Amino acid sequence: MCGIIGYVGSRDCVQIIQSGLSKLAYRGYDSAGIAVCHEGDIDLRRAHGKLENLVARLALEPMRGHTGIGHTRWATHGRPSESNAHPHRYGRFAIVHNGIIENFLELRQELIDRGHTFASETDTEIVVHLLAEYYSPERGFAAAMHDALRRVRGSYAIVAICADFPDEIIAARQQSPLLLALGEGENFAASDIAAVLAHSRQFIFLEDGDIARITPSSIEITDISGKPVTRAPKSIEWDISAAEKQGYPHYMLKEIFEQPQKITDTFRGRILEEEGLVNLDEQIAAMHIEQSKRLQIVACGTSYHAGLLGKYVIESLARIPVDVDVASEFRYRNPIIGPDDCFIAISQSGETADTYACLKIARERGAKILSICNVMDSTIPRASDATFYTRADPEIGVASTKAFTTQLASLLLLAIHCARAKNTITKDRAKSLLASLRSVPTHMESILAHSDQVRAAAQKLLRANSFLYLGRNIHYPIALEGALKLKEISYIHAEAYPSGEMKHGPIALIDDRLPVIVIAPKNSTYEKTLSNLQEVKARGGRLISIVTEGDDMLTRVSEYAFAIPDCDELIQPFFSVLYLQLLAYHIADLLGNDVDQPRNLAKSVTVE
Ligand code: AGP
Repeated sequence: MCGIIGYVGSRDCVQIIQSGLSKLAYRGYDSAGIAVCHEGDIDLRRAHGKLENLVARLALEPMRGHTGIGHTRWATHGRPSESNAHPHRYGRFAIVHNGIIENFLELRQELIDRGHTFASETDTEIVVHLLAEYYSPERGFAAAMHDALRRVRGSYAIVAICADFPDEIIAARQQSPLLLALGEGENFAASDIAAVLAHSRQFIFLEDGDIARITPSSIEITDISGKPVTRAPKSIEWDISAAEKQGYPHYMLKEIFEQPQKITDTFRGRILEEEGLVNLDEQIAAMHIEQSKRLQIVACGTSYHAGLLGKYVIESLARIPVDVDVASEFRYRNPIIGPDDCFIAISQSGETADTYACLKIARERGAKILSICNVMDSTIPRASDATFYTRADPEIGVASTKAFTTQLASLLLLAIHCARAKNTITKDRAKSLLASLRSVPTHMESILAHSDQVRAAAQKLLRANSFLYLGRNIHYPIALEGALKLKEISYIHAEAYPSGEMKHGPIALIDDRLPVIVIAPKNSTYEKTLSNLQEVKARGGRLISIVTEGDDMLTRVSEYAFAIPDCDELIQPFFSVLYLQLLAYHIADLLGNDVDQPRNLAKSVTVE
């Protein structure tokens, strides 16, 4: 997903924009650029690859200005290159864009027929040519933007500057997130909070169709027809240092070690241990999700794995039927969902296009909409009836870790809430579960102390060409998550199976080159899983086990054994996944990979 920042004010904007782009780098990108109004014209610097390349370009060819825009691009139309990098400049204009202009080919041909030539393969460049087509000094910059956007179909977050209007920027939003930040004698536009939090805590979140004319002292928002629109500012209390590395080599390792604190934050104010109750904010409680005929969870990637685990815990405790779908499948299978159902979107970023599209389908068909999300006021929460915020603070590493475990914590609280509301568990059982949840951060701390032990194992495993992960019941989603973590940052193939499926095919894979990670803590399926382990050992497989502390037998037969506390089965996933996160991290780090920004991946996938 692309990162956007715009500035208009009295300060020199190049450093402000450059610093803002660095805070957006985590979203994943392949090129970057800055454009400013300067002495009646527009200056532009762009570079392919990492931000350092743009910084080097600026050092060689400095520029200055008080009005400017910046962009980090994740290629969707047109390969990663300097010519395809944003901003795109044409005539008196420069523009940055996030989203997809769906009718850009027909517009491009129309403009070529009018004599335009294009310097890039991007859909974005169309818009800057349309601006030039519709612009007249008399009607002005904002009017030209309105006219240009009337021709456009698709999704966009756009910020533009015009050499004839050096004291304003124009911002427009349609389906791609865009916010404004309010300053003293200066204002900002950005694709997300982290880019500008150093300068302001007052934000206006633009909605679809909004077009904003921004000067150092004013913000005017209208719809595409020019009708004024009111958007109240919101105060966000994020501390940007929460998004810094704080001494860890990678954001991902910081975020793995942050999990105890973040899970504590997720629980804060939501556990009434004495009463054996969960204290949900009134918007969620008012939805009475426990009265739904069915819950339909939809998500992608790691969030989907959290949803799968949600199914196990909600059905086990609250006895409500739960379906879980990958968003990109749900949206195209004409799903059965209606007013008796509750649709639950799980999304760390709150911007995942496939998940948002499913939410709109569920809305059209009358379902209640709950989201579980980590980013305040992002697109999915703003489209939901209520949102359960996971409170993990910004997750910068592309590979999700703390977002996942805070999603698990959120789902367990929801399950206990529903179970108590439906009286499917006793008060004592609820009190016991809530006490177990309270103990999760402490146990996680003790497991994190074994990080070096995991690193030693990683050193011996990293040459494997493939890994097999096995888990049963609530540990099957954890096996899936462990395999995904390894794949996305080490680039080593891995797959996960329900342990019971071994005999239906995967057992053919077992040999002395294949590490088999088996999640086998003492629980209701332990005996069954033991037989799977014996199948692995009998065929010479490299057995790595997640065991319950004190399980000497299993420890003895494993090449490596990682112990989790003897605890309630429903909270074991917090601990098994921790080892799998650490294993993936250490293998990738020892391989020298870009752990925080793995190749080909973006933090937030806002295109199909
Ligand atoms: C997680 O490690 C991945 N980076 C990816 O699968 C991610 O979980 C998925 O894209 C969903 O993102 P979301 O939670 O922001 O919707």
